[in-house]
Amino acid sequence: MEVIIRPTTKEAVNLTAKLIAEAINQKPFFKLGLATGATMEAVYADLVAMNQAKEVDFSLVHTFNLDEYIGLDPEDPNSYRYYMNKHLFSKINIDMRNTNLPNGLAEDEIAEGLRYESAIAAAGGIDLQLLGIGNDGHIGFNEPISSLAGRTRSKALTPATYAQNSVYFTPPESMPKRAFTMGVGTILGAERIVMLITGAKKAEIAAKAIEGPVTSMVTGSALQMHPRTVVVLDEAAAANLTQKDYYNWVFANEPEWKPYR
Ligand code: GLP
Repeated sequence: MEVIIRPTTKEAVNLTAKLIAEAINQKPFFKLGLATGATMEAVYADLVAMNQAKEVDFSLVHTFNLDEYIGLDPEDPNSYRYYMNKHLFSKINIDMRNTNLPNGLAEDEIAEGLRYESAIAAAGGIDLQLLGIGNDGHIGFNEPISSLAGRTRSKALTPATYAQNSVYFTPPESMPKRAFTMGVGTILGAERIVMLITGAKKAEIAAKAIEGPVTSMVTGSALQMHPRTVVVLDEAAAANLTQKDYYNWVFANEPEWKPYR
């Protein structure tokens, strides 16, 4: 795992977007794994700006989102399909047919998980998976005690996630209590992973995921098992890391260091 701490949120976001754009530019038929949440909105704004400046081309890119709420229509403003269309897909030169999310309205939940796994496999797997982290340490919607070998399936959400995300729903109680999510095993199958963590509220969970024991109680900690993961943090989110000096020293001493190359 590489840990990069940037002084501000803006710099952490810019670096994350740059890593994604550089990776796409090296391999145009790119399979990009995407995440949602407030943290990612700025990353998508950067990617939109880079696409408009012709610095990155999405015309051949296929995307696979991590998760989707069960029971929400794609047109529902709280669905992740709606979020992705709004913040990214409608503003870049991607072919909408190449964008994939689990279908929140699928009647057969088991079949939907299998369909999504097959779609990822048929595309040849994910080249780079973008991740955020939930307040309870989840990646995707892999809540505490999710199998670290799990695949795409439906998952019951925790009260912590409900508290974090229901503020976006009107009324808050209308937030679904289940979601489809790629499993931790699916996520670990990606060739590369870039996780972005920003803000003081995430400092404690960031330290657990990066430096704590690998445990299904904090599914983000499973990234320690992945050979090509970069975690980008702003100063505030990095506050509780015990090896901060080491991470900063590595970054300062290797100006030519180019992640993933
Ligand atoms: C949701 C998503 C996660 C995301 C998390 C963080 O729960 N399922 O993939 O990492 O939100 O959200 P935020 O960036 O709003 O803190």
